[in-house]
Amino acid sequence: MLKTLAVAASALLFAATAHAGTLTAQGSLKADQPGPQISRYIYGQFSEHLGRGIYDGVWVGPDSKIPNVRGIRTDVVNALKDIHVPVIRWPGGCFADEYHWRDGIGPRDQRPVRKNNWWAGSPETNQFGTHEFMDFAEQVGADPYISINIGSSSPTEMREWIEYMTSADQDTLANERRKNGRDKPWKTPFLGFGNEAWGCGGNMTPEFYSNELRRFTGFYHRSDDNPTVRIASGANSTDYNWTDVVMKNAGGNIDALSLHYYTIQTGHWDKKGAATGFTQQAWTDTFANTLKMDEMITKHSEVMDKYDPKKRVGLFVDEWGTWYDVEPGTNPGHLYQNNTLRDAVLAAVNFNIFHHHADRVRLTAVAQTINVLQAMILTKDDKIALTPTYYAFKMYVPFQDATYLPLDITAPNFTMGDKTIPAFNASAARGKDGHIYVGLANMDPNDDVALSVDLGSVKAKSVSGQILTAARMDAYNDIGKPAVVAPVAFKGAKLAGGKLSITLPAKSVVVVELQ
Ligand code: AHR
Repeated sequence: MLKTLAVAASALLFAATAHAGTLTAQGSLKADQPGPQISRYIYGQFSEHLGRGIYDGVWVGPDSKIPNVRGIRTDVVNALKDIHVPVIRWPGGCFADEYHWRDGIGPRDQRPVRKNNWWAGSPETNQFGTHEFMDFAEQVGADPYISINIGSSSPTEMREWIEYMTSADQDTLANERRKNGRDKPWKTPFLGFGNEAWGCGGNMTPEFYSNELRRFTGFYHRSDDNPTVRIASGANSTDYNWTDVVMKNAGGNIDALSLHYYTIQTGHWDKKGAATGFTQQAWTDTFANTLKMDEMITKHSEVMDKYDPKKRVGLFVDEWGTWYDVEPGTNPGHLYQNNTLRDAVLAAVNFNIFHHHADRVRLTAVAQTINVLQAMILTKDDKIALTPTYYAFKMYVPFQDATYLPLDITAPNFTMGDKTIPAFNASAARGKDGHIYVGLANMDPNDDVALSVDLGSVKAKSVSGQILTAARMDAYNDIGKPAVVAPVAFKGAKLAGGKLSITLPAKSVVVVELQ
C-alpha cells in the first residue's frame, strides 16, 4: 500500500513537471492602425478602511517614529510615486456606505470612534478623514476618487460633503474647511455614487438603485471648474441584467458604470485557496478564473452599447484582483494575504485585457493598495515589502496614456487537469515617448514560448526590456528583506528581417521596448 502511494505521488510530480519545453507562437503588429488611448487611470488603486490598509499602511500619525509627512508614511508615498499611481479610490468598498464624512473632520482628538461593521467590527478612530486622504493623494500625485455613501445617507449629506471639499466661496462649509486647515478648494474628478448597491451598499434591486442614482445625481451640482466623472455602482461580475437596467433607467445621469470582479482560485468564497504553497493546478485554476475578466468586459460593454453606442459612459473595473484565504494567524476580517509571482503574472494578464478594451475601460482600481488583498505594499512596523504585483505595475508604467496598437497573436494553449487556457496573453502600444511597448504575461508554469512577431510598417533599430520571474511560482518578497521577485534586464528579444523574436520564459511578465 505504502509503495503504491509512493509511486502515485511520484507520478503526480512527474505529470506536473515533466513537460517543460518551448511552445511556439506567431503574431503581427498593426502599428499603422492605432486604437484608443490607454487611459493612465487603468492603473488606479483602491484603498479602503479595512484591516491595516489605511491605519499602519498609510496613516501612522504625525508623532510616529516611522518617517512621515503630516502622519502619512514616507516610504509608502515614495513607493507609490514610483509606479505613477494616477488615482486612488477611497474610503471604500463596503465601508463607504456606512461612512459619515463629518466623523473624519476637525481636531483629531475630538473625532468619534465608530465600529467598522463590515470589517471585523474593528474600531474606526476617524484619524484619517477627508483632509488626510486628500493630503495622501496629493503627496502621491494621484487624483482622488471619492466613493459616496448612498446606502445609508441622504442627498443632503452628499451635497454638503461635496460643497465642503470644493467650494471656493465664503460660505459656511467652505469656511469650516478653512478653519480645519485647508484654504484652497479641492477638486473631485471622480465621484462614486454608492458601492456594490446590490450587496453591502444597500441590498438594492437594479430598478430601486437606478431611482436612487437619479435622485442623488440630481442633487449633485456640476461646475465647469470642477468637472467630475459620476460613477454608478455597477454589476457583480456576470450580472448583465444590472448593467442593462441601470443603463436603461439612469444611463443619462452618469459618466461611468463600475464592475467588480475578484479572482478566486477555487471559485468558492468559503474556501478560496492559499496565497502561497499552492500546486500547479491551483496556479492554472487561478488563471482560468482571471481570464473570465475578458468575457465579462465584452458582455457588459455589449449591453452598454445598446444604450450608449458612442461609448460616452466608461466601464470602470474599480475593484479587481486576487482574493485568497487570509494568512494564518491574521484576523479573517482584515483580508491580509501574501503576494507572489502568481499575482504579478495575473496583474499583467489583466492589464493586457484592459488595454484590449481601452475604448470602454477607462479606469480600474486594484484591490487594495496596502496590506489588504492583492496589495502593492505590505508593512510591518517601520518595514515594508514591495510585492511582485507592485513590480508588474512598475513595468507597465509606459502604457499609461499610450496609444493602443493592435497585436494579433495566435497563442498556444496548455492543459492542466480539467483546465485548458492560453499559455500567454499580450498587448502593444505606442508610448508617450514615441517608442513601442509590448507587454506579455506567460501563464504556463512550465513552458517557455518562442514568439515571432511580424512588425509590419515598424522599422525598429533596437529592442530592450525587463522581465519579472522567479524559480518558484509562489516566490514572494519578505517584509524588510531584499526583494527576490523584482524586474531585471531581459535579454530574450531580438530583431531581424522585420520580425521581433521573443523567448518568453515560463511563469513570467516581460515588457519590451522598441526604438
Ligand atoms: O475589497 C473588499 C470588499 O470587496 C469591498 O469592500 C467590497 O466592495 C467588495 O465586496
